[in-house]
This record gives sequence, C-alpha cells and structure tokens, in this order.
Amino acid sequence: MSKLKSFICVCGISLFLEGFGMSETELRVSKIKDGTVIDHITAGHALDVVKILGITGREKGPITLAINVPSERFKTKDIVKIEGRELNPQEVHKIALLAPHACINIIRDYKVVKKQEVKLPKIIENIIKCVNPACISNSNEPVKARFYVDCEDPLLLKCHYCGYIMEKKDVLQRF
Ligand code: CTP
Ligand code: ZN
Repeated sequence: MSKLKSFICVCGISLFLEGFGMSETELRVSKIKDGTVIDHITAGHALDVVKILGITGREKGPITLAINVPSERFKTKDIVKIEGRELNPQEVHKIALLAPHACINIIRDYKVVKKQEVKLPKIIENIIKCVNPACISNSNEPVKARFYVDCEDPLLLKCHYCGYIMEKKDVLQRF
C-alpha cells in the first residue's frame, strides 16, 4: 500500500488517511495519553454516554467517538475516548444502565492502568428519578429515588415506592 493517500470509507464517512502500514479497510483511532476509554458500549449509545458525562464539546482535550464499529463480542459497539478525565462511581452506574457490557479503561501515560467492566448494583439510589409523575419520589417529600434492578439487559428497573417498571427508553428520558 502506498504510504500516503489511502482513501477509505467507514460508516458512510469518507476519511483521507495517511497510511502507516494500515490496510485500506482499517481505521485506526488515536490512542490517548491520560484519561478514560469507555469501550464495548452498546451500539448506538455513545451519544447518550456523552450526554451523561455532560460533555459539551467545549472541553480542552480531544474526545473521540466511534459509533457502530465492528466488535468481536457483539458484532458492533461504540467507543468514547476522553483525554484528561476519569469518571466517578455515579457516572459509571449511569453508563451501566444504558451499556451493561461497557468497559472503562483508565489510561495513564498511554498505558491501560485499570480496566473495569461496568456493574449495576442491585439497588439504584439517587441516580435517576421515577418516570411516574404521581410517585412520592417526585413530590416534595424528602425521599430518595430508589429502584431494584429486575433485569440488566434488557433493562428493567422497579421503583421502590410506586412499583412502576422503567425500561431503557424511560431511563433515557431522564438523562
Ligand atoms: N486505548 C487508547 N489509548 C491508549 C491505550 C488504549 O485509546 N493509550 C484504547 C484501545 O484502543 C482500546 C481500549 O483503550 O479501545 C482498551 O485497550 P486495550 O486493553 O489495550 O485493548 P483490548 O485488549 O482490545 O481491550 P479489551 O480486551 O477490553 O477489548
Ligand atoms: Zn416511582
């Protein structure tokens, strides 16, 4: 392959790549130096993850999104790479609600120093609110929103107070 000018098309986006030994059908996304790579995100949810993390696009460091890329485990997946940021446990739980197979990789000095599969706790407290407007957790009463994880995939959360079963589409509404 010529070193320069390998022109490829991935996911409908034409990319002009300078080839460094890359095959003409391969897209290589840059590694990051320090930060977080959220890998194996359920395909189609990268933008929701970006929303959960409050990323506005005005951050200083590079942020890379890959959507619907091939995955050995699940055919396709999304990836979000964020330079200069590590996630807190609440953010990890929110991601787990939408992408139960996601893997959080902490990168320091280009190396993966920690790899954590997301895991939903059995009880979700104070992370999202119930979609039932009549639920006591949506009133002025001082109660914390609380759900039992009936199923991780497909997601089913049962409200402790009103018994409403929230699905992934309901959870997406709340972010
Ligand atoms: N990665 C990165 N920058 C680095 C190191 C790793 O962007 N400096 C990314 C890799 O591209 C990959 C993810 O972090 O998407 C995890 O890296 P690694 O553990 O090296 O890859 P795999 O072994 O393929 O991970 P897994 O087994 O979890 O699929
Ligand atoms: Zn409720």
